[in-house]
Amino acid sequence: MPVLPGQGPRRRELYVAIRRLIETGLARPGAKLPTTRDLAKRLGLSRAAAVAAFEMLVADGFAEARTGAGTFVAAQVPAVSERPARMPGPASVSPALPCELGVATIDDKTMRVFRNLLSRNLAQPGQEHFRYGDPRGGSKLRAAIAAYLRAARGVRCHAEQIVITTGTMHGLDLVVRTILKPGDAAWIEDPCYPLAKATLEAAGARLIGVRVDGEGIDAVNGEALGAGGRLVYVTPSHQFPLGVTMSMRRRLALIDWAARNDAWIVEDDYDSEFRFSGPPLTALQGMDGADRVAYLGTFSKVLFPGIRIGYAVLPEALLDKVLRLRMLSDRQPPTLVQGAVADFLNDGHFAAHLRRARRRVQAARDGFVTTLRHHCAGELDFAVPEHGLHLVAALATSAGDRALVRRLLAEGVGARALSPMYLDAQARQGLVLGFSGFEADVLASAARRIGDVLRASTPARS
Ligand SMILES: Cc1ncc(COP(=O)(O)O)c(C=O)c1O
Repeated sequence: MPVLPGQGPRRRELYVAIRRLIETGLARPGAKLPTTRDLAKRLGLSRAAAVAAFEMLVADGFAEARTGAGTFVAAQVPAVSERPARMPGPASVSPALPCELGVATIDDKTMRVFRNLLSRNLAQPGQEHFRYGDPRGGSKLRAAIAAYLRAARGVRCHAEQIVITTGTMHGLDLVVRTILKPGDAAWIEDPCYPLAKATLEAAGARLIGVRVDGEGIDAVNGEALGAGGRLVYVTPSHQFPLGVTMSMRRRLALIDWAARNDAWIVEDDYDSEFRFSGPPLTALQGMDGADRVAYLGTFSKVLFPGIRIGYAVLPEALLDKVLRLRMLSDRQPPTLVQGAVADFLNDGHFAAHLRRARRRVQAARDGFVTTLRHHCAGELDFAVPEHGLHLVAALATSAGDRALVRRLLAEGVGARALSPMYLDAQARQGLVLGFSGFEADVLASAARRIGDVLRASTPARS
């Protein structure tokens, strides 16, 4: 029977005391230890406690029991460092810098609701918490997501083809590793989301950057590159980073390309909930009649990134293979959070939260745009985004965007440079600025500092 330290305070105390004598050399290797009967009597312990302490010493290699002769300090004592092993500390999570991307906008009301739903799921645990379940995730959440996607995004789906993931990147990783062999060509938007590029590279993809213009990527341009392509990764609702919405004709052309070439489209719909004007857009997946689109969504933007719940809506041909990979990585998503998110959707909280969150983000955008225009007139060129949580501004200055971003960081502004998001050498210089999750005065102060840094970086104009 394994002996676990900490079974009881007295046995643990005795174990620690003898171990210390051994480690400090006061009890020498090979020395005979007192009998458990003797120790128990002298120290006023139960015999069982002394026996358990000795068993722990033997189990940990500090003592050896010799039948009929007693217990001895081990000839070779394990070298245990005095200092505890150095563990990597937690990554420093400092407050987000203004204009950082990926900062949630969530109010106290939503947090309260979510806390209550988590407590409810914990207080009334269902059977699903106590056994392994479906690698796709729980049926309640999958059904709730399927209903939401059909109604809000025009996604053609049923709950059986939905896999709950720990976010978009998890879904993307599973899908690309299912589809691609190392060396296969994959199209990617140029510029693109750097983490998606890294995920494709990690799967061994040979990346083909297809230039994004005002209508999104063009399959005709992709084909003209002549490199084939097993899949394409796209952000049609709101291209990251440029913010373009892919036009209908480009969507249809891409779907046609995939069908003709037995290729797959991976649609990342990361922030589609934040559309401020115009009709809601149907997902590209809903236009595809050939079942060649893997649709990825997330609660990172619409709730908060730490929730780590996303979903993949998978074509039938990919589902089993993706699930086999999922079984090998994290088996299934965590049941407690899934239960709370399902209740959040089913009880009507999600719709109410979205209305409030959209209003907050839109107000943040409006305030930020006004102060940027005021402080950065003539230095930045940008369109007001009708969608999403960030804006992209082209630079009037000849200063490179990477150097500017370093200077802005020194001023406490978390802007991102646009040019490193390009694959092509003909990168545009610009700033990618997030406005979600910050108060108006914080964004106004950031806009002022951006203006100061830009002016200081601009060569004097004659
Ligand atoms: C283009 C894009 N896709 C997806 C995500 C979200 O990823 P996840 O769901 O893994 O948090 C982000 C977050 O910044 C993003 O910008």
